[in-house]
Amino acid sequence: MDCDLDLAVQREQLERAGQAHLLRFWDELNEAERAELLGDLSGCHFAEIMCFFGRALQVPAPLQQQPPQMDEQMEPVPREVQGSVTRDQERLPEWEAEGLLQISENKVAVLLLAGGQGTRLGVTYPKGMYNVGLLSRKTLFQIQAERILKLQQLASAQFGHKCTIPWYIMTSGRTMESTEEFFAKNSYFGLQKGNVIFFQQGMLPAMTFDGKAILEGKSKISMAPDGNGGLYRALRNQKIVEDMEKRGIGFIHVYCVDNILVKVADPTFIGFCVKQQADCGAKVVEKTNPTEAVGVVCQVNGLYQVVEYSEITLVTAQRRNADGRLTFNAGNICNHFFTLQFLKNIVKDYEPKLRHHVAQKKIPYIDDHGQQIKPDSPNGIKLEKFVFDIFQFSRKFVVFEVLREDEFSPLKNADSQNGKDTPTTARHALMSLHHRWVLNAGGHFVDENGTRIPAIPSSTTRMSEAVAAVVNDNLQELTDVPIKCEISALVSYAGEGLDKYVAGRDFRPPLIIDEKGVQELTANGL
Ligand code: UTP
Repeated sequence: MDCDLDLAVQREQLERAGQAHLLRFWDELNEAERAELLGDLSGCHFAEIMCFFGRALQVPAPLQQQPPQMDEQMEPVPREVQGSVTRDQERLPEWEAEGLLQISENKVAVLLLAGGQGTRLGVTYPKGMYNVGLLSRKTLFQIQAERILKLQQLASAQFGHKCTIPWYIMTSGRTMESTEEFFAKNSYFGLQKGNVIFFQQGMLPAMTFDGKAILEGKSKISMAPDGNGGLYRALRNQKIVEDMEKRGIGFIHVYCVDNILVKVADPTFIGFCVKQQADCGAKVVEKTNPTEAVGVVCQVNGLYQVVEYSEITLVTAQRRNADGRLTFNAGNICNHFFTLQFLKNIVKDYEPKLRHHVAQKKIPYIDDHGQQIKPDSPNGIKLEKFVFDIFQFSRKFVVFEVLREDEFSPLKNADSQNGKDTPTTARHALMSLHHRWVLNAGGHFVDENGTRIPAIPSSTTRMSEAVAAVVNDNLQELTDVPIKCEISALVSYAGEGLDKYVAGRDFRPPLIIDEKGVQELTANGL
C-alpha cells in the first residue's frame, strides 16, 4: 500500500469532515499501525457519517417523541389485525397448513440477525456459538439449524417433494469470520452449504457529543455495528434481495440469534401473515407487568412502531382494558415476517430516509497523551438503526401473539449478573418446554424412588387468563428447578410426534430424546 499517497487523500478528506484529529498520533505509528489506521479510515465515509450524525441529533421527529406527548398519540393494536395462539386456537391448524404449504414450495427464507457484539454476555466470540449448558451441549446456532432441517422434513413429508428453507445470516465486521469458520467446521449442521448465506452489516464510528469520531487506540477507531436495522442497508449493499428473488422466495422470517426458544420459520406465524395478506408482521408476547422494560408494538399517529418503556409515562404503561389485560401489551420480541416485495420497497425507497437512533455510551478512548481511558459516565454516542424502524411503511401490518413460556427466552447477560436472561434462564426455559412436551405426549417423570413427579401446568392455553398472567409473571420461579429433559429439534419441531417415544412411559431424568432415540442419562454421566 502506498501510505504516503493514501495519507494525503485521507488527510484532505478528514480535514473537510472535521475529523483531522484521527491522525494526531500518525508520526508515532509504525508501518503496521499506519496500515491499520488507514484500513479503518477507508471503511469510514465521513461525509455520509456526518450527515447521519446531524440528522440523528435533530429535534425529535414525530416518531421519536418523548413522554407525555408520545402517550397521547399511542393506540393499541386493534383486535382485527391480531392473531393469537390462545384466543384463535381453532384457526391454528389452518394457518399452520398454509405456512407448511409455502415452505414446501420453497417460498420461505429465514434471516438471522447475528451482527451484535454481545457486550452484556461478555464473550469474545459470536453469541450464536454460545453453549448454555444443555445436556447435548448444543450451541444456539446448532439448535436453530436443526429446527430448519426438521421443518424442511415436515413440509417435504406432508407435500411429497423436497424443499429448502434458505438461511441468511447477518454478521458484522467483528463476527463474520468466526461465524463462517464455525459453520464450516460443523459441516453446516447438516444443512447444505449453498443454502446458508452469510452477509455483513455495516459499522460506524462511535462519536463524541460534538461529532468527532473516537480513537480507542492510537491507530484504532472505535467502531460498532450500525444496529440490527443495519439489515436493510446490508440487504442492498450485499445484493441479498436479488439472491432471494433468484430463489423464488416470497416470505422472510427475521429473528434474533439470542432467543433459545425461537420457532425458526414458524409455519403458523407465516401462514397467519400470508392468510391476512400482510406485508409485515410482528410476533409478540403479552406484556403483563407494567414496569417490564420491553418495547410494545402499537400505533403512533396511525403508524405502527415499537415504543420503548422509557418513552412513555407509568400511567400509560399501567393502563388496563376491561378484561384486565394491559392496554399496551404487545411485547416486541424481535421476531418478524416480511414479504419480499415489502423488503424490496424498503431497500429501494425507504431505508435511506430512516434516521439513526442515538445511544449514549461509555466509550473507552485514548486521550491526547496517548493514555487509554475507561470513562465512568457516557462520553459519546453510537448510531444505530433498529429492525422495527420500518413498521411505519407497512400497508398491511399484523401482530401474532404467542406464549412467552413456549417461544421467548433471550440470552443477554452472563450468569454472574442480575439473573435475568442468562444462560441459566435460557437453559431452564428450553428444558421446561421440553418437559411439558413429554407430559403432553403422555409421558411421566419419576424421582429416584420411582415416584411420579407432579406435572406442572402443561401450557397456559389450559388456564384462565388470570392464572396465565400469574404464570407468566412467575415463569422465572417455574423454571428455577426444571426437570432435566431435552428433545432434539431433529425429533420434534414443536412437540409433535413424541407419542411413539413417550406415551405411557415413566422416565427418570436426565432424559434426552434425539435421532438415536430415548436416552435416560445417569446423573453422573453428564
Ligand atoms: P441486542 O440489542 O441484544 O445486542 O441485539 P447484542 O449485541 O446481542 O448484545 P449487547 O447489547 O451488546 O449486550 C438483539 C439482536 O440484534 C442483533 C444481535 O445479534 C441480536 O440477535 N444485532 C444487534 C445485530 O444483528 N446487529 C447489531 O448491530 C446489533
